[in-house]
Amino acid sequence: MTQFSINGRGYAAEPAPGQCLRTFLRDLAVFGVKKGCDAGDCGACTVHIDGKPFHSCLVPAFRAEGREVTTIEGLSGCGNDLHPTQQAFRDAQAFQCGFCTAGMIMTAVTLTDAQKADLPHALKGNLCRCTGYRSIDDALHGRCNIEADLPGRALGASLPNPFTDAILTGTARYTMDVAVADLLHLKVLRSPHAHARIVTVDKAAALAVPGVVAVYTWEDVPKRRFTSALHEDHLVDPDDILLLDDVARFAGQRVAAVVAETEAAAEAGCRALQVTYAVLPAVFDPVAAIAPGAPLLHDKDHVESNSNIYCTLQGEIGDVAQGFAQADVVHEETYSTTRVQHAHLETHGSIAWKGEDGRWHVRTSSQAPFVVRTKLAYVMGLSPRDIHVFTERVGGGFGGKQEMVSEDLVLFATMKLGRPVKWEWTREEEFIGATTRHPMTTRVKIGARRDGTLTALDVEVFSNTGAYGGHGGETLAAAMGSPIAAYRCPNKKGIGHAVYTNMVPAGGFRGYGASQTTFAIEGALDALAGQLGIDPFTMRRKNVVQPGDNVESIWKEPSDASFGSHGIGECLDIVERALATGNGVAKPEGADWAEGRGIALAMLECGPPTEHRSGAEMRLLPDGTYHLACGSTEMGNGITTAHKQIAAAILGTRVEAVAIINADTDRTPYDTGTFASTGTVVGGKAVHLAAQAMVEDVLDFAGRHTGVPRDQCRLDEDGVICGNRRIALSDLHAEGAKVDHRFMVTRRAYLSPRTIAFNVQGVRLAVHRVTGEIRVLHSVHAADIGKPINPMQCRGQLDGAVAMGYGWALVETMVHDREGRMVNPQLRNCRIPTFADTPHTEIYFADTVDSIGPLGAKSQGECGINPVAPAIANALADATGVRFTHLPFTPDRLFTTLSAA
Ligand code: FES
Ligand code: FES
Repeated sequence: MTQFSINGRGYAAEPAPGQCLRTFLRDLAVFGVKKGCDAGDCGACTVHIDGKPFHSCLVPAFRAEGREVTTIEGLSGCGNDLHPTQQAFRDAQAFQCGFCTAGMIMTAVTLTDAQKADLPHALKGNLCRCTGYRSIDDALHGRCNIEADLPGRALGASLPNPFTDAILTGTARYTMDVAVADLLHLKVLRSPHAHARIVTVDKAAALAVPGVVAVYTWEDVPKRRFTSALHEDHLVDPDDILLLDDVARFAGQRVAAVVAETEAAAEAGCRALQVTYAVLPAVFDPVAAIAPGAPLLHDKDHVESNSNIYCTLQGEIGDVAQGFAQADVVHEETYSTTRVQHAHLETHGSIAWKGEDGRWHVRTSSQAPFVVRTKLAYVMGLSPRDIHVFTERVGGGFGGKQEMVSEDLVLFATMKLGRPVKWEWTREEEFIGATTRHPMTTRVKIGARRDGTLTALDVEVFSNTGAYGGHGGETLAAAMGSPIAAYRCPNKKGIGHAVYTNMVPAGGFRGYGASQTTFAIEGALDALAGQLGIDPFTMRRKNVVQPGDNVESIWKEPSDASFGSHGIGECLDIVERALATGNGVAKPEGADWAEGRGIALAMLECGPPTEHRSGAEMRLLPDGTYHLACGSTEMGNGITTAHKQIAAAILGTRVEAVAIINADTDRTPYDTGTFASTGTVVGGKAVHLAAQAMVEDVLDFAGRHTGVPRDQCRLDEDGVICGNRRIALSDLHAEGAKVDHRFMVTRRAYLSPRTIAFNVQGVRLAVHRVTGEIRVLHSVHAADIGKPINPMQCRGQLDGAVAMGYGWALVETMVHDREGRMVNPQLRNCRIPTFADTPHTEIYFADTVDSIGPLGAKSQGECGINPVAPAIANALADATGVRFTHLPFTPDRLFTTLSAA
């Protein structure tokens, strides 16, 4: 046995041939070492070897022999105190999901002062997808962002995440951070063809690989079609997927699953499979896919009239032809947006096993465990009661985990083999096999009178839903909803098609369809304002919807969305003021640099357009503290912190006095899932109602117990004051126990009616006319999110959303070849933003209190992404006179366009 020293402790162990240090450490249950890529790109696996930072996925394990290896678990030595860098991350709350944090800290502790002064360079090897790096910058410059937890002061306080210390010390347990006895590993072979019939799969060579225990193909699995999209109403998505199919409809689709004693054996088994494909004609573009004679992907159950159109949405209010006839100026242009991936640092994965209770247990990285349970029960022919689905800590989601893409095969294999089975996706699988944002092409025609009053708006959208249709209709509905409804205009018309193509399927992604058409409409409005010689702020103020207006896009039917608060005017004022004040950053010197300023706004109906429900259960515990159970998933969205604060605010206590569990089908009330802002507006509402019910329950009992009228009783942190008497809650609980009063309440909340949030982004940038390089000089964002429950956290969510917007607009590109295969399925080549790519953004809030959302709050992190790309496009147009209508704005594209202009 080889001797290793890890965190000051000796280990005698033998790495497998070729094994990297990352997997070796995790095999020893050192789970603070994370995997984001296994390619040296993300830094989540950073450890110290003899005090120097290394990406452990790039280091052969045997090289650590005789060296001192330190991971996040060993950073602070034997004491319980945090290392100063951990403490700095605590004070600044420099994380959201926390999946990158251990690696980030291990790099950060080695930085010199000179390196800290140049973080874009010093942190180039560590990626964070959640924070936009601002809070990390705060931590490394000694800024403190948190406040004290005071009784009755929870609402509006910047309180730390309750799991802070676990995240910072590497003891927080994410989906794959568990050692399971007798575990089998699943891997899949994915199709190299974008469209092919699978004629035969010869399993013999794979089954002969030592360690392989089973191989499954389409012939072995249940034949119930389902959708991987996770919605309350399964009818809003087409049931067009099988566990394993005999037709591959995109390059990257699962063809066969191999289960083995080790991951390496499962991968070797995949490589040994002999598959005979009959390659079919493929189509990748939605317009080509609806042309006569285009290859068809699905049978008529899933499409409109023997075509590749999954669904069409259309409508008209007023008379658009007449509206254009009344217009003095008309602008018409086609805008297109690209496919990008969520790139949450924790990849998809799940583990399933049969429990001693005879039921099936699934530990998964999901935004919607309850709907996963329902879907698994349907596909496997089980009762939902026989399945338990839960999350531990989830390392980011952004909509990418609103899909059932791993749990199905894992449960199937476990049920077949009777042993626990795990499937952890690789980064490449995330790019080629998970969902992406829907690329959309949007033609906008917009007309106005000379004074800027809009007279007509006509929108046509082609959405590329890829090989499967999950989220295709809902994202299209969102695309044709808020961005059109944001403006008063008597005549609006739209038609949109979600079209199947032989591309990787699209799905839910922060902004959910509205991001794409916001890019188009905000660009078109800006161009129209330019034609009229009207300032962009004035143009928006003149036309944006106002309280009392009907919130309508292209449909005459009444909407359930209304203004619980209306802060768009204030957001516009804030951004205008901030840009006018400036930040002192000058454009680079040289005649080739042009400077421009652009803004865009976005409106969001908070919550999905279809049904959604959440429950919360609250108990008073014998020690006088509270226990809250809520089905929402914590994935870096800060929902556990927000829910605790809502509860503590109602109960008049400290947040610390409210313990929470979440996202567990056995232990928490039902919750549709955490997406589209529902964690705050629906889950938060359920918590609000449950806490109110708990107050009533406690005061009613206290009044009865003391004989003091109920209206003379009130909660006082950890006690109740009844008249002149104060009773500790622990004593009250004891009195309740004597008469079997349980102090337990459960409440449910539903989505409708939905309130509306607004965001405005302002950008001042410089663009180099020759090289196409863009430098963001000033970035300002104002959000109307109602009452911020936790301002620090809300700012962090917006930092992350805006950073994602910059990534989408400027650097992220999924490149596919002519056969539909992705050629850059790596973080370094697809380019999610690094520290250096992410401008610092000033974040402001409108001072509003929402009348619909819980305690005045509404959507926080969803909509911030939407105005970023159009604001950049508008700034580019201002700088160069050229309107860029296709994302992303990479230097090569800008160079080509500008040199032709
Ligand atoms: S997992 Fe090692 S750098 Fe990403
Ligand atoms: S906190 Fe950095 S990836 Fe989530």
